[in-house]
Amino acid sequence: MKIAVIGLGFVGLTLSSVLASRGITTIGIDSDRKKCSKIAKGIPTFFEPNLEKTLKKALKKKLIITNKLYSINNCDFIFITVGTPEKKNGEIDLSFIKEVVRSVGKLISKNKKKPIILIKSTVIPGTMKNVVLPILERNSKKKAGKDFGLISNPEFLQESRAIHDTIKPHVVVLGGYRTKFMKKTEKFFSRFNPNVPIIITNHQTAEMIKYAHNTFLATKISFINQIANICQGIPDTNIDDVANAMGLDPRIGNLFLNAGPGYGGSCLPKDIKAIINLSSKLGVNPTLLTAVEKINKQQISHIVTLVKQNIGKINGKKLTILGVAFKPGTDDIRGSVSIDLVKRLLKLGAKITIHDPKALENARKIFHDNTKYVKSVPSALKDCQCAIIMTQWKDYERINNKIIKQMAKKFIIDTRRVLYNKNLDAKYYAIGLGQKI
Ligand code: UDX
Repeated sequence: MKIAVIGLGFVGLTLSSVLASRGITTIGIDSDRKKCSKIAKGIPTFFEPNLEKTLKKALKKKLIITNKLYSINNCDFIFITVGTPEKKNGEIDLSFIKEVVRSVGKLISKNKKKPIILIKSTVIPGTMKNVVLPILERNSKKKAGKDFGLISNPEFLQESRAIHDTIKPHVVVLGGYRTKFMKKTEKFFSRFNPNVPIIITNHQTAEMIKYAHNTFLATKISFINQIANICQGIPDTNIDDVANAMGLDPRIGNLFLNAGPGYGGSCLPKDIKAIINLSSKLGVNPTLLTAVEKINKQQISHIVTLVKQNIGKINGKKLTILGVAFKPGTDDIRGSVSIDLVKRLLKLGAKITIHDPKALENARKIFHDNTKYVKSVPSALKDCQCAIIMTQWKDYERINNKIIKQMAKKFIIDTRRVLYNKNLDAKYYAIGLGQKI
């Protein structure tokens, strides 16, 4: 069996590394030459736990990296994992996927093999039927379902646990027609992800399942953040105890109830915008989803207000941001609320120092010389007038009174409650904790 994976971002690189490390001949394709040559040397282009090890194993076994799209020839399965970013108006930008699908169509027109094309990229419901399928049929002059298979296969992996989620996802969703291609794909996944439930449905439903997942996760986060803000107004309440108790109710579940500065990343914010956009176009008022998004944006404003209330005018003040990665375990800052906070504070004239164990280089690409970048937590806190913990990195749990002593003003805002329960000699505010009486 030979498999091609087009687009070597988080999803594509992880998938191709896992496939080849298991002994399946895999061609990883990306149009970016520089990226390809780095990956071919066993260096991932982003930080992801265990990826480097898996990639190296894959390269030793059955992984070929190339920028030549024609390498898809004679592949049994072609996974498309290119990005579907967000346009300025919140709509989804399909230009990468359209371009790839056009070229794949042309290439398979000469192919004797009947490949199965799987779209992993997140696409708005209707895209497979109305955009991808017609482009493929037009360019290949072949018929889907007869000469090649076309299957929606949304991806649910989470950054920072991408390898684990690729090996053992909670579900495999396959959208399309129930043809021989679907049977072959089902067989493939039942071996690749044994004991994982497989849901077979049509294209539109498969596309919708992905959006429903991500918007529900965002809803859970905004819900707990709203409750956290209420808790903050009630002396001595604790949002984590509230969330833990709620999580024990099997109807609710304990995941994604960790209150904080709001959700970020390359998926949740983009997907919720795309579905709001679609919903409005369909004439369905997206009341709940709009509120979810609004609550998310308000979290950052709450933090800015808190800083102002405690240190007065922000202009000229030295503030330290602890964590800019959108969550721990990654160097990814796409959609990071922490990046938004830095932008807001810079506009207000703050002098910002940033610490992050993994994401400093990525932050530098945005803020250049407008902020300071510091590698150790004690140096980051030295002389600052307020420290704001944004990402739940373990490093921040080690902050103690010796480190705090070096701060010019001992004021800490802890959006993730990592320092809760420590006897700190500082003014301490945490999202979701009512002030001690
Ligand atoms: C998300 C989906 O979880 C995944 O299924 C999909 O394939 C891609 O999008 P990811 O972007 O990796 O994954 O991030 P995720 O772990 O979902 O976290 C998103 C944001 O929510 C982060 O900013 C995180 O800090 C925040 N979050 C998450 C909370 O604030 N509280 C929580 O309880 C969980």
